[in-house]
Amino acid sequence: MITLNVCGENIDRHFKYARASLQAQCRKPKAALGARHRQGKNMSVIVRNTGAEDIDGIRELQRRIYPTIAPWSRAHIEQQLRVFPAGQFVALLDGNVVGSASSLIVIWDDYGLDHNWREVTGKGLFGTHNPAGRTLYGAEVFVDPGVRRRGIGRLLYSARRRLCRQMNLRRIIAAGRLPGYHRHAQNMSATTYAMKVIWGDIEDPVLRFQLREGFQFCGVIDGYIPEDDESCGHAALIVWLNPLYRGPTRRSPSHK
Ligand SMILES: CC(C)(COP(=O)(O)OP(=O)(O)OC[C@H]1O[C@@H](n2cnc3c(N)ncnc32)[C@H](O)[C@@H]1OP(=O)(O)O)[C@@H](O)C(=O)NCCC(=O)NCCS
Repeated sequence: MITLNVCGENIDRHFKYARASLQAQCRKPKAALGARHRQGKNMSVIVRNTGAEDIDGIRELQRRIYPTIAPWSRAHIEQQLRVFPAGQFVALLDGNVVGSASSLIVIWDDYGLDHNWREVTGKGLFGTHNPAGRTLYGAEVFVDPGVRRRGIGRLLYSARRRLCRQMNLRRIIAAGRLPGYHRHAQNMSATTYAMKVIWGDIEDPVLRFQLREGFQFCGVIDGYIPEDDESCGHAALIVWLNPLYRGPTRRSPSHK
């Protein structure tokens, strides 16, 4: 049996796909599932705001997922939680951290195509967070490799979209890694690579995921995370427009 719970609410129509996907995975032979699931336990995925108790789990996941990129320090994550607690989410499977999504609010006119991750996130400390902005900026998202393609990334993105609607922000912007690019870098530019992903000729796990989540491709940023070897430092700038945006009024997030 699968239980999905996003920020303490029942799953609305936006999460139906994720529920279906997880149920489909559950019907797969047990050998296809991770060790914990092979023990026959029920799977229970919860997405909620990050708390201090999740920090160790987040850092451990980051270390495994990005071997060439230094993980956030405990102080980094604590600071992000102080600056903008409503923008930080974790996904928990049977109580363990299996995913995380971090965001801040920025004044987008200060950045545009010409920015990098360190600038826009204030070196990961979110000193650039500005509640007067209209743009929710996605600083990071990742899911445990052992439970990918089961809708957990979608749940984290759904939580972000929900926050964007709740706060009446104009849009979500992010710069997505292009982790498959290093395999094609000898033959094509990063922009051509991204176009081929959009055209369906190349599969890229991150850009493909973001396009499926309703984001639009806006161009390639060079030197976004220089130490990201898989993406050769490049990233795809993407945007999702909040269809319910009502002009410059603002509501507070009502997250736990
Ligand atoms: C991007 C990421 C968060 C997606 O998490 P996820 O839990 O697998 O996402 P979901 O299960 O909700 O969606 C999976 C969808 O993404 C796309 N996708 C994921 N992996 C893919 C791959 N290897 N090839 C092609 N498409 C892929 C598919 O559309 C897939 O849907 P499908 O399984 O029905 O075909 C995850 O791949 C990840 O953590 N990547 C490494 C960290 C990273 O680079 N994060 C991005 C920072 S900008």
